[in-house]
Amino acid sequence: MRVELEIWRQDGPSEPGRFETHLIDDATPEMSLLELLDRLNDQLAEQGIEPIQFESDCREGICGACGVTVNDRPHGPVPKTPSCRQHLRAFGQVTTLRIEPLRSAGFPVIRDLVVDRSALDRLIQAGGHIDVLTGTAPDADAMLVGHEDAEAALDFAACIGCGACVAACPNGAAHLFAGAKLAHLGLLPHGEQERGRRSKAVVDQLDTEFGPCSSYGECVEVCPAGIPLTAVAAVHKERLRGLFRGRAD
Ligand code: SF4
Ligand code: FES
Repeated sequence: MRVELEIWRQDGPSEPGRFETHLIDDATPEMSLLELLDRLNDQLAEQGIEPIQFESDCREGICGACGVTVNDRPHGPVPKTPSCRQHLRAFGQVTTLRIEPLRSAGFPVIRDLVVDRSALDRLIQAGGHIDVLTGTAPDADAMLVGHEDAEAALDFAACIGCGACVAACPNGAAHLFAGAKLAHLGLLPHGEQERGRRSKAVVDQLDTEFGPCSSYGECVEVCPAGIPLTAVAAVHKERLRGLFRGRAD
């Protein structure tokens, strides 16, 4: 099958970008999007042209590194699926793919399809960490957690940090991402003592680096981890908790 790729090229963060068109003549429906980019890069290398820069690590939907925008949709056409797990068979009769970086003011382009998503890391960092010697791990049943809370916490912990929610949001908000973190930590008894401080720090960082949430819900549509909109509600809840308890912690 023949695929026409309109692909974003940008030489550096402050360089102007442009779309380039390339043809792949020997694509197959079983190819993933990243395999298609690999094929394109082989072709470019054979022609002595600089390969397209893109990110990937696990290629199995775990690490969140691979996110790109495909035909105006973060990750691609298949719901709840990261870019590395999108296959050409899902595009039906569409044989022209427009691939560009995840677009958001919070994610400056580094080169081609690679963006700087360290704003998400700073948000996690704001939540704090434990750097004291805690000894050996406690017994798993030393602190009991109800089954429903444990399951819900795990569901929120499924966020892979890809940033697609931010790219899909017209406001460039990261509330789904932040809410997933706050909800998963807030549902567990561990770290309860610093919850107010953590909530305030994360929400302050969220407000500093990203846009406001207007509840469009576009984030949920593209999230590969299936994080629900209740994560956004968790941000509002934790914002209040941070306001009232942050100073006491
Ligand atoms: S909430 Fe979903 S879309 Fe947003 S970073 Fe996490 S996994 Fe990606
Ligand atoms: S490469 Fe890891 S989620 Fe796609």
